Amino acid sequence: MQLKGKTALVTGGAQGIGKSIAVFLARSGADVAVSDINEALAAETAKEIAAMGVRAVAIGGNVADGASAQAMVDKAVLELGRLDILVNNAGITRDNLIMRMKEEEWDLVLDVNLKGAFNCTKAALKYMSKAKSGRIINIASIVGAMGNAGQANYVASKAGLIGLTKTIAREYSSRNITANAVAPGFIDTAMTQALPEKVREELMKQIPLGRLGSADDVAAAVRFLASDGAAYITGQVVHVNGGMYM
Ligand code: NAI
Repeated sequence: MQLKGKTALVTGGAQGIGKSIAVFLARSGADVAVSDINEALAAETAKEIAAMGVRAVAIGGNVADGASAQAMVDKAVLELGRLDILVNNAGITRDNLIMRMKEEEWDLVLDVNLKGAFNCTKAALKYMSKAKSGRIINIASIVGAMGNAGQANYVASKAGLIGLTKTIAREYSSRNITANAVAPGFIDTAMTQALPEKVREELMKQIPLGRLGSADDVAAAVRFLASDGAAYITGQVVHVNGGMYM
């Protein structure tokens, strides 16, 4: 129970990778705030986690909105008493080739994936700075390092998130706050289930370990970065991709 006594806020925690992360942190003893734009689903997930014997709360809100992000973080602190770990996981895709990509598609993805992480981080740093301790873990993507045709908005948001991570690490190391990114490869969730079967088969050929990742593969890396064992790791990108990018 290496995270007993700690509290975590996971954005986009209602389903997929975020849910696995919330469950993994809870299994290690952390109390967890599950925040999501889908409040009803967040409530179901929080209920499942509370059944594991830790405190769990569901918080509705939109990370892309600064006031909403601030309210989410404030509520997590109010309900759980402190905030030790922030996982910026909420993310969306709106794929299109650049020539066909609408300005709104660009803005929406950047607003949720990149500004959302900035909003939540800024709100959390207020508490973490005072406590002189904290862990910020941003869920980036393999494509933020490799690029990907059809995902200019998403790739730019994830590459930006890696830059944001390194800047948080540099600005807040003196306050004993670390910031790292986890960059998943192709993970079997609702996001990738939307891909055509042919695309999934082609992807599989490019993965040395020969399978898509699971949400738990990503959650295990996040849990490590949240643990005491990762105290000297900051500003890094941990790739969890079956060897697809090395
Ligand atoms: P998902 O679509 O299953 O879950 C995303 C969650 O975020 C949902 O519960 C959704 O309601 C929530 N969300 C969306 N917009 C929000 C907003 N504005 N405010 C608050 N919550 C919001 O996606 P998945 O696959 O679990 O992805 C989680 C993260 O992992 C994302 O950041 C994604 O970019 C990243 N990722 C996923 C990969 C994959 O293969 N599935 C690969 C690499 C990165």
